[in-house]
Amino acid sequence: CHAKAMIEAKFVLDKAIRELYATLLANTMVVADLGCSSGQNTLHFVSEVINIFTKHQNNLGQSDTVDLQFFLNDLPGNDFNHLFRILNTFTFKGASNHKGDILPAYHIYGAPGSYYTRLFPPQAVHLFHSSLSLHWRSQVPEQLNGKQKSYLNEENIYITKTTPLHVVKLFQEQFIKDFSLFLKLRHEELVDGGRMVLTIYGRKSEDPYSGDVNDIFGLLGKSLQSLVAEGLVEKEKLDSFNLPLYGPSVGELEEIVNRVNLFDMDHMHLFECNWDPYDDSQGDIVHDSALSGINVANCVRAVTEPLIASHFGEGILSALFTDYAHRVASHLEMEKTKFAWIVISLKKRC
Ligand SMILES: C[S@@+](CC[C@H](N)C(=O)[O-])C[C@H]1O[C@@H](n2cnc3c(N)ncnc32)[C@H](O)[C@@H]1O
Repeated sequence: CHAKAMIEAKFVLDKAIRELYATLLANTMVVADLGCSSGQNTLHFVSEVINIFTKHQNNLGQSDTVDLQFFLNDLPGNDFNHLFRILNTFTFKGASNHKGDILPAYHIYGAPGSYYTRLFPPQAVHLFHSSLSLHWRSQVPEQLNGKQKSYLNEENIYITKTTPLHVVKLFQEQFIKDFSLFLKLRHEELVDGGRMVLTIYGRKSEDPYSGDVNDIFGLLGKSLQSLVAEGLVEKEKLDSFNLPLYGPSVGELEEIVNRVNLFDMDHMHLFECNWDPYDDSQGDIVHDSALSGINVANCVRAVTEPLIASHFGEGILSALFTDYAHRVASHLEMEKTKFAWIVISLKKRC
């Protein structure tokens, strides 16, 4: 999905950078990628920004060049060493450059920390970007964190059809709290008129019981239930586990942005992509559901493994994700469900 997300966000980024450039007072444009991870995708974003920036700067025929300063942010546990190693071999190859275009100088730094805390000095950043990260909550809602004696979301690890409505509300409230905080913090760190382009894993319908975030993690919950039935996992372990996630709808995002009242919404659109990131076919049929099941299981494993291993132990991982791959395959045979992603572009209100 990353490549599709970059394509979907590209014209939004392009507009934001163009408008920022037109009003830039400094000789450096500061760009921060939040939740950057540590792979080639991070470099893809950096290349994209340099590319867009070079195009505008050269179109305007500016002789005084502006430098680009990138801050790559993720949690401190992110493999920044790997990221810096691949950055060391990174040479920008602009796809859309005309011969003779002047490239901006660019400087790249790491910025470890949670984006639910202050990361930068006041008014220090021109553009924030975050892709495929903001569905992660700062924590599991307190009442669900497993320290209580009674478990409110028994046998589930996220919202499913059997999750009580008051538990759904807890997930929603955690999202409202986190996203409002995120907006306030970034507002402080942005220069006046600064921009944010965010691509968020969300849902198409306003109904919090629907959507593929629920489907994909509902199936993982079912796999955990089958390990309980086989005696490989204690029921209490499953009952006390919830994922710190929430996939918002377009309406929910809009409402929080309006309520916080610090940004103007410049753009918002929703796009979909297949669960299997290697399946770029159109239409409603999955051609090789077994293979797609394995591909989806590998992706979900990559993002959930640390949480699952620390709660249930590493010993269950192989059995869990083998079962999960089968369940995803059967699900895709019945329905080619898709991820829903929401791109928003916000402008700081002064
Ligand atoms: C699926 S990856 C997305 C990577 C990349 N942005 C992309 O588009 O491919 C999500 C990243 O968000 C990071 N993340 C989650 N919560 C975070 C937080 N509170 N602060 C900073 N990064 C966070 C994770 O560590 C992970 O690297």
